[in-house]
Amino acid sequence: MNGTFRLARIAVDDDLPIEIAICMQPVGQAHANHEKAKGYTFNYEALKAANEDVQARSDWLIPLCTGEERLKGEDGKKVHPTQKPEGLLARVLLSSSKPGDLVMDPFNGTGTTGAVAKRLGRRYIGFERDSTYAEAARARIAAIEPLPEATLAPFMTARDAPRVAFSELIERGMIRPGTRLVDSKKRHGALVRADGAIMLGGKVGSIHRIGAVAQGSGACNGWTFWHIETKKGLRLIDELRAEIRSEMAAL
Ligand SMILES: C[S@@+](CC[C@H](N)C(=O)[O-])C[C@H]1O[C@@H](n2cnc3c(N)ncnc32)[C@H](O)[C@@H]1O
Repeated sequence: MNGTFRLARIAVDDDLPIEIAICMQPVGQAHANHEKAKGYTFNYEALKAANEDVQARSDWLIPLCTGEERLKGEDGKKVHPTQKPEGLLARVLLSSSKPGDLVMDPFNGTGTTGAVAKRLGRRYIGFERDSTYAEAARARIAAIEPLPEATLAPFMTARDAPRVAFSELIERGMIRPGTRLVDSKKRHGALVRADGAIMLGGKVGSIHRIGAVAQGSGACNGWTFWHIETKKGLRLIDELRAEIRSEMAAL
């Protein structure tokens, strides 16, 4: 394999910092190649977005596992000497897997990887040779509730997102022909036609062109301009498109 191991030095152990390999190539190279490479997941854009749109660093500073998170026995002593922080495993799994993926940790310990995997909607297999640790891990993982699916859907940039035509909203019954689309202040109203074009006054065109006409401007993103009226108030048509995209991503 080309490239080098990228090591993250992370102070997670009680006694010593440990090093874990998180990537087989330098980050820039991995990103440049990730479209072509089919063998692994690297959620570069999601990591960047979570880091205020700056490329995530490869050295992570994460606090040790203490407080409520630390498993203790009835005697008040730590169940395991080197229980890892959930924040570390969350970052590892969010950067390198997708919901539904199978995660395996051959050194399960207290099941931190499994607990985080379940919370993040991943499947999990763990191996542990010590029955006390294995039992503690089983109970811990059983008590975890997965997060709501909508909070786990894979991150997509506008460029990555699959194209959805406005007519698909009509084909899927999300918007009916004859519906009135309005802008956020309800100053403009356009009629949805059966063919996926919309009509404002005598003008017929795409959601973008008619949005531009309504505003008297040269260009408009119709997805973020037009709304449908619902009992709960206005709903941006871009939210309907996002629903279709998250369904596509789950396939
Ligand atoms: C560093 S600890 C893992 C801690 C875990 N990440 C956590 O957060 O609790 C490594 C674990 O691997 C287990 N282990 C070591 N060698 C093993 C083997 N050959 N098969 C199964 N488990 C093993 C040890 O008993 C220990 O609990």
